[in-house]
Amino acid sequence: MARYTQDSIERVKEAVDMVELVGARSDLRRAGTQWKGLCPFHDERTPSFSVNPDRRVYYCFGCGAHGDAIAFVRETEALDFQAAVEHLAERYGVELKREAEDPQEEARRQRRQRLARLVERTAAFYARYLWESNEARRARDYLAGRGLREDVLRDFRIGYAPSRWDTVTVRAQEDGFRPDELVAAGLAQAKRGGGGFYDRFRGRIMFPLADARGRVLGFGARSLSDDQPPKYINTSENELYHKGRQLFGIDRARAAAAKKGRIVAVEGYTDVLALHQGGVSESVAIMGTALTHEQLAELSRAVGADGGVYLALDADRAGQEAMLRAGRGARERGVELRVIGMPEGADPADLVERDGAEAFESLLGRAVTVHEFEVRRRLAAVDRGDPVARDRALGDVLPILQSLDANSVLRDHLMRLVADKLEVPPENLHVQVASAGRATPAAPRPFERTGEAAPPRVATPSVEAVARAEREFLAMCLSDSAQGREYLGRLENDHFSSQALRRVRDHLLDHFDEPLADLPEDDPGLAALVTDVAMRGEEEHVSGDALRLTFLQLELQRVMRQLRHAEREGDLERQRELWPIRESVKVQIDELMGQTL
Ligand code: UTP
Ligand code: MN
Repeated sequence: MARYTQDSIERVKEAVDMVELVGARSDLRRAGTQWKGLCPFHDERTPSFSVNPDRRVYYCFGCGAHGDAIAFVRETEALDFQAAVEHLAERYGVELKREAEDPQEEARRQRRQRLARLVERTAAFYARYLWESNEARRARDYLAGRGLREDVLRDFRIGYAPSRWDTVTVRAQEDGFRPDELVAAGLAQAKRGGGGFYDRFRGRIMFPLADARGRVLGFGARSLSDDQPPKYINTSENELYHKGRQLFGIDRARAAAAKKGRIVAVEGYTDVLALHQGGVSESVAIMGTALTHEQLAELSRAVGADGGVYLALDADRAGQEAMLRAGRGARERGVELRVIGMPEGADPADLVERDGAEAFESLLGRAVTVHEFEVRRRLAAVDRGDPVARDRALGDVLPILQSLDANSVLRDHLMRLVADKLEVPPENLHVQVASAGRATPAAPRPFERTGEAAPPRVATPSVEAVARAEREFLAMCLSDSAQGREYLGRLENDHFSSQALRRVRDHLLDHFDEPLADLPEDDPGLAALVTDVAMRGEEEHVSGDALRLTFLQLELQRVMRQLRHAEREGDLERQRELWPIRESVKVQIDELMGQTL
């Protein structure tokens, strides 16, 4: 989609009343030319947060948070750049203009806009119908019977679809929409044999599926009874709605997630409603058990770089396996994922209804890393009286322990757990873990100190993930001879988190066209790394944008490393230098992502 013109963005910034904008989140008092208050980004008792209304910027002397109105909205509302601009434009009544786009693209956008309007109006209709029609009494009773309050249902715009076969189809046409638009939006279907159209959703409770900005794109529709299968019908993939990207409730959860620095992903619609009602309003549903990469990206965007993503899937086998798969996906992306073991046979909605939201909060407090979850799961099934079973379990968990860094607190913690459960002498276990070759080199993950009550807040993606990204980037460089060589030359030593990869870069710079030539014979580790990178490079075909995006991600990691260093040293001046650099890299990443989406 075309970007907004720089001029529009400037006009939005100028229209913002910073004191009003920030004042909605924190009480501000005038202090000279500035306004001061408690920082909305960290907990504090004495105000160290200040707003400069003329320059329209904020700055916190406590935690270093700072930026302009757009940055403020991005942080507090967990929106991307484009969305933050739209949010402000709406709030301060500025009309946004887009860069000229090609006519085809323009036509597509206008069509999407019409479909979106159609879906939005239909959502409003379903919601009214739930509360006002006689027919929906059964649905109202059903929802009330499940303990769901009206205010929460209204907040989520839950609705009811009339059971008549064409209510929506007729109404929408009266409002000027064409049948083909109804079909494209997933609201109607053509009758077999070509005689007209009928509503796709009938006689069901309607859960609107909105994007992060609250725009409804599709629906989940629940049947009221078991003899009206299937339990749910969902909007199928269409021009507007993409299942893999959807998180139910993200629009209602965003602000809370940004504020608390954590987001909780559950399986079902009703789980989300029950959790919001119980005050855990940073909850969203992934709508089934498989967590997609896009959902994972959206989850981590909602909590920012140092937030935690919590996964609470059902205790059944599918749910558990989904958590493990999600854990691997998260590690690859450097997202900190924690999982919550749900009690057998209860989903979060049941739990909240039965034992209150505190019961769920307490499970959240006991969330564990995916590694620990996996180890515990394998140990749980073991019959202690059966040495063969214990041996088998030991064989199962060894690779997990070996994949962790020898010095990490996590590994130590898990070793004790395993030794205890399987009744193996700890020294024995140490020998076994150390003796087999380590599957993948891993490094300490300092935020994985389990046993801590508070969720981790350190902005450190896993060292493995960082190293993987660096290696990946080197491979990408090889795949594109023109730009790749240039990028390779731009990589500084401190773009790398390890000496080994620096040396790979040096080798590649010297042997760009024939990376496998002159492999160092005295250094098999380096030779293996170079070979790995070169092979991957041959397989890949990357776009210039992908190359640039990955480069920016390395840049970001570099700045973050420098920042953490400066924080440890207590070097405030250096931190002040680095903040705007970090911001500018983030903006570039966002812009590029906006363009490539
Ligand atoms: P559940 O069967 O647990 O449903 O599926 P639920 O929403 O918790 O409903 P209650 O509490 O039994 O009333 C979890 C989620 O999986 C998706 C839905 O998103 C559902 O909320 N699902 C489930 C479907 O899309 N289709 C189905 O047929 C079943
Ligand atoms: Mn459920």
